[in-house]
Amino acid sequence: MEKKSQHQSSSLIRKTDGEDFSDLNYESGFGNSFSSEAIDGALPRGQNSPLVCPFGLYAEQISGTSFTSPRKLNQRRIKPSATHEPFKPRVPAHGKLVSEFDKSNSYTTPTQLRWKPVDIPDSPTDFIDGLYTICGAGSSFLRHGYAIHMYTANKSMDNCAFCNADGDFLVVPQKGRLWIATECGKLEVSPGEIAVLPQGFRFAVSLPDGPSRGYIAEIFGTHFQLPDLGPIGANGLAAPRDFLVPTAWFEEGSRLGYTIVQKFGGELFTARQDFSPFNVVAWHGNYVPYKYDLSKFCPFNTVLVDHGDPSINTVLTAPTDKPGVALLDFVIFPPRWLVAEHTFRPPYYHRNCMSEFMGLIRGGYEAKADGFLPGGASLHSCMTPHGPDTKTYEATIARGSEAGPYKITDTMAFMFESCLIPRICPWALESPFMDHDYYRCWIGLRSHFSYEEADNESDGELTMWDMEQRILCA
Ligand SMILES: [Fe+2]
Repeated sequence: MEKKSQHQSSSLIRKTDGEDFSDLNYESGFGNSFSSEAIDGALPRGQNSPLVCPFGLYAEQISGTSFTSPRKLNQRRIKPSATHEPFKPRVPAHGKLVSEFDKSNSYTTPTQLRWKPVDIPDSPTDFIDGLYTICGAGSSFLRHGYAIHMYTANKSMDNCAFCNADGDFLVVPQKGRLWIATECGKLEVSPGEIAVLPQGFRFAVSLPDGPSRGYIAEIFGTHFQLPDLGPIGANGLAAPRDFLVPTAWFEEGSRLGYTIVQKFGGELFTARQDFSPFNVVAWHGNYVPYKYDLSKFCPFNTVLVDHGDPSINTVLTAPTDKPGVALLDFVIFPPRWLVAEHTFRPPYYHRNCMSEFMGLIRGGYEAKADGFLPGGASLHSCMTPHGPDTKTYEATIARGSEAGPYKITDTMAFMFESCLIPRICPWALESPFMDHDYYRCWIGLRSHFSYEEADNESDGELTMWDMEQRILCA
């Protein structure tokens, strides 16, 4: 991945209202260094901190890594973001956000878990109040770990902005578009698209479609990258040019009682100021929010026999210090052709040293004939066995080895996969949407083992190797 390509661009965008998303403009590319001006000439030329910035603006920097690392953004804004009253614990406290997982606040289980789609509340609920943690591992304080959240909301955030000091959000809307105002500009994110909101950015979420639901992966201490393509070569999977970055846009004027809600160590704090935080007239750098349309993904698959590991469809990865071991991979299962010959085409039965949280954006999932629904979720932790349900297995075997090429359509499932074993929040375990019958989907799997048939195939001579394999397969 070329993280520091020299793409530079400039755009002139008019100042507009924060609820007006009719004027969206994006730059494209992943990890590029961008420049964007809502007023031409607002970025000083030749230096970052002149004595007086053009148009009397203030200069401010957001760093996404240490100062000696390259991911940072230089902004020119009407007032610095430090201009607010002291932070105070939010009243009421949130209570369902976790950023440091231990025995005091979460549980662990090797059991397969599945949740039905969670109802969207009827009472007014915005993105912040509708956000809740399901599971996670590690600690935002120690800058290593992740949290998996969901949100159910029906109301736009009003006169407030959210800022996550703990980590980066990867947002996966499942129902309802999100209009996300950020300090870099505006993003419209529809179900089937994702957005990444890096640590420290202030943003406000409006819900143009009303009732909304989605998933969020939050990572602590690192950022998402495109996966290396290895033997695939230069092209395939998610292309850098399909990642879209907002262009500069700002609000000015008084906003009395405006509240910044800061998530810090999983707790919420608030601070008042009298102006919009979306007052950035121009910016440049490579630490930016972005979005990606999953339909643009170029999936790879076997074209003759057997079944690839799901890692082949990694969209974004957050690395650990160990090569090839992800803190969190975002993997999708998009529409695609299945063509493998004499092959069990659904995902194989397996146990994984990584832990797998799955969600479904639309349609069905190839390994589950029913029960795994759009808006639902499942969790298979480290070494927890799982795979196709009984109906899927029997239907696959019934089709036989002569099944022709088949295209899976109308589907978009995804997986957050991590090397860290998640602890699960009590409200997720006790949720009325927990599918307590999930285990039954495999109970009906019957033995197809036939000693006589196997005996005939090997002319009656069973070697020790044959016996070991049959015991494993029975
Ligand atoms: Fe799996």
